[in-house]
Amino acid sequence: MRKTLNIGLFGFGCVGFGLYEVLQKTPGLKANIKNICVKNPNKTREIAAENFTFNPDDLLNDPEINVIVELIDDADAAFEITKRALKSGKAVVSANKKMVAEHFEELLQLQRENNVPLLYEAACCASMPIIRNLEEYYDNDLLESIQGIVNGSTNYILTKTSRDKLSYEDALKEAQEKGFAESNPILDTGGFDAKYKLLILLAHSFGHIAKPDDLLNIGIDGLGGLELKYASEKGWKIKLVAQAFKHSDGNVGAFVLPKFVSPEDRLYNVDDVFNGVVTKTSFADEQFFVGRGAGAHPTASAVLSDISALTYDYKYEY
Ligand code: HSE
Repeated sequence: MRKTLNIGLFGFGCVGFGLYEVLQKTPGLKANIKNICVKNPNKTREIAAENFTFNPDDLLNDPEINVIVELIDDADAAFEITKRALKSGKAVVSANKKMVAEHFEELLQLQRENNVPLLYEAACCASMPIIRNLEEYYDNDLLESIQGIVNGSTNYILTKTSRDKLSYEDALKEAQEKGFAESNPILDTGGFDAKYKLLILLAHSFGHIAKPDDLLNIGIDGLGGLELKYASEKGWKIKLVAQAFKHSDGNVGAFVLPKFVSPEDRLYNVDDVFNGVVTKTSFADEQFFVGRGAGAHPTASAVLSDISALTYDYKYEY
């Protein structure tokens, strides 16, 4: 028996509006947005003003709202909303990788204490269903490594500068205009966004919970013409790759670095805004996931998948 969901939505930016559209095109799902909380009263929005509130309490204190979908930019505010929601017994769906990466353990505990789920498939590689695959398909002990392109904006910039000869500035501008980049794009170009996603992957692949300061991240903003020229001469590409390995002694290593990638590498053809992740396990050997890593509808599709899972009372057995 599927549950009916009354959603309280925080945030109506690129992904929030994307979700609104995607839900309208998914009539079979018993989930409706009951109220939307936004911050800026002066912003012009795609739907009528009476659909919005500016007071978080209108959502968090509404007993009819059983799911909070949190799609705001600010990780600290997102954490406060998520905490309050879980404590009041409301399930939460979030796309906020920074919040999840920074507060993994607390969030886990809040879920256990209050017996309500927090799902965040959209926080990691947007449309690619990597978290649920790691959580459900693989036995953690058998995973040896996971590596991939997990940031759409930097992949877009690297593709546009090398293949289409755009300048770095123009490629970044395009990534911003298309709604791929974070509002502070240094999070993308500096490899921070990829690191938050890697932390989430680490937790779900190896059960290893680390903090952002524990992992090295080097982004693409320090790359010079020399590296790009060298790659092109060799017939290689440069990709920003997040990698995690489980060593034979059980220790885990993980980092985000730009990497030369040859045509034999599975990540070579992952271009534009696409993300690609290669898992290596003892028995299945390599498996390769690919999908759009940013953008309104691809990200909203992952949020939709979490919402749909909640209609079945879904919980991670972490
Ligand atoms: N800024 C992120 C990216 C958005 O480019 O991958 C999706 O997480």
